[in-house]
Amino acid sequence: MSMTAPDHELPQGETKRVAVETMFDRLAPRYDRMNRVISLGLDRGWRRRTVAALALPPGSCVLDLACGTGDLCNDLAQVDVDAIGVDFSAGMLAAAHTPAPLTRADGAALPFRDRSFDGIVCGFALRNFVELGAVFSECARVLREGGRFAAVDATVPANPVMRAGNAVWFRGAVPLLGRLLAHDADAYQYLPKSTAYLPGHDELSRKLARADFYDTRVDTFTGGSVLLLTGTRA
Ligand SMILES: C[S@@+](CC[C@H](N)C(=O)[O-])C[C@H]1O[C@@H](n2cnc3c(N)ncnc32)[C@H](O)[C@@H]1O
Repeated sequence: MSMTAPDHELPQGETKRVAVETMFDRLAPRYDRMNRVISLGLDRGWRRRTVAALALPPGSCVLDLACGTGDLCNDLAQVDVDAIGVDFSAGMLAAAHTPAPLTRADGAALPFRDRSFDGIVCGFALRNFVELGAVFSECARVLREGGRFAAVDATVPANPVMRAGNAVWFRGAVPLLGRLLAHDADAYQYLPKSTAYLPGHDELSRKLARADFYDTRVDTFTGGSVLLLTGTRA
């Protein structure tokens, strides 16, 4: 199915998994540059905020789930945390620019033993998972008791003025930039639409709690266009 389908017809299940993997394989060589452009350079600060939300001491071991080209792995290293990245796109892993060890795997079937990690970060991938509940359960399995989870992603602002501005940028300008700079209008039409996959913020927080996390919460920033989901493994 095309990734440019209307929001209510976005691909699901195995069709979505294959479409997302193929899209990131294709985007990988231009991913970092496009990220900086479409986030107006703000993505670096969003990732640093995600790492800070873990509140883990130096020497901790943290999984970067859906690591892509490894930006969060590098931010973890900056605070002396040992990072391991996992992603299912061979293309993204090949384009990675981090000394952290990286492994190819699906977020719903992590190749790590129970209680291997002190923390998990996840950048801009919640929307892309086929089944969030299955991924959260895997996160619970590989985290130690008291381990921390922090996931950052794009969302749609609740404020109508911010929502209108967000729509102009992400549904108007971004696909155009995607066509001009990345020669891939299809992918950059999908990216803003994919926020439709995410449940509401309360439900997102409850979903993480149902996977055996406590103190789960969603905070938003940058005018409500970015969310940070956090929780602690029970
Ligand atoms: C928007 S990119 C984000 C990459 C990186 N985390 C960052 O902050 O730039 C989303 C990433 O999620 C990965 N991804 C999507 N679904 C996945 C899954 N089921 N298992 C593993 N990785 C997945 C994609 O391959 C892609 O690299």
